[in-house]
Amino acid sequence: MIKNSAFINKLIFIFFAVILLLMILGGRFFTNIEEDTYVSEEEDRIVVGVSQLGSESGWRTANTESVQNAFTQQNGYFLIFNNARQKQENQIKAIRSFISQRVDYIVFAPVVETGWETVLQEAREADIPVILMDRKVNVRNDGLYVTCVGSDFVEEGERAGRWLEEDLARRGMDERNVNIVVLKGTQGSSSQIGRTIGFSVVAAKHDNWNILEQEYADFTSAKGKEVMESFLRKHPDIDVVVSHNDDMTFGAIEAIRASGRTVGIGGEITIISFDAVRGALEMVADGTINVDIECNPNQGEYLSRVIEMLEAGEKVEKQYYVEENVFTMENVTEELLEERNY
Ligand code: AHR
Repeated sequence: MIKNSAFINKLIFIFFAVILLLMILGGRFFTNIEEDTYVSEEEDRIVVGVSQLGSESGWRTANTESVQNAFTQQNGYFLIFNNARQKQENQIKAIRSFISQRVDYIVFAPVVETGWETVLQEAREADIPVILMDRKVNVRNDGLYVTCVGSDFVEEGERAGRWLEEDLARRGMDERNVNIVVLKGTQGSSSQIGRTIGFSVVAAKHDNWNILEQEYADFTSAKGKEVMESFLRKHPDIDVVVSHNDDMTFGAIEAIRASGRTVGIGGEITIISFDAVRGALEMVADGTINVDIECNPNQGEYLSRVIEMLEAGEKVEKQYYVEENVFTMENVTEELLEERNY
């Protein structure tokens, strides 16, 4: 009898243990469902999936901050952010995940221009509007994205060329042979392609401008230094460095100084840079960098304005360019440096 009641107690214990286990598993199961369906819970907010291409430069950090500050809960958004770490396959994966989460909008900065057709078609079939930021895509059907908010990179490259024309004329050196090297950004990216085209258009007008070499340096300081070191080894007679962003410029200046040569105003090598982040503008102010062609990373507000227009059923343009400037020692003021948010 005692044996039997011990057995029954054991059974009761096992029964309750199983019930408890089921309740725990059930709880987790339902929690998972809630997580998976959070998009529908956020119905009153606009759900935006953002695929940022990486964090290679100071400019990129500022661009990410601008987007994160625009798509906030207070502004009525639910932001799903992904950093692709310079890999196109990571961006494609992120976009597919946004599609499966049924976001309201996909915003992405394409690391390169080509290779987007399939995934953008998938977004289109899911009826999710795609907005490009910063860079462009090269697709046969431009109906695969709604609009693009970014910079006019060809114009930026032309501005660099036009500044060099004026500077050489100012110094009475416009008839002399000028040896130029170019540190290019990420191969296949809009900013690299556009700046190369823009500068080449101006350079083609001058028989005395010799572009000695152009090399990709991935928009990073470390690569900029490495490529500049190799330029300096091969070409003892460089007059001008055109560097597609400030990070590469920082690396290049280090390499040039280490080689014993001087840079900037009154120096042996003229430095032309792009972006105009605060650290570089300080170097413009002290004459280390001759000119900095601005690339404006503050694109978050433009993007949210475009989304507001789409929400209101308004027609949007295919391309919006952000405002940009050219900075030399003459117009980099204390106030500008203080106000600069990047
Ligand atoms: O596409 C914009 C470029 O990308 C910026 O010039 C550069 O700094 C960034 O990494």
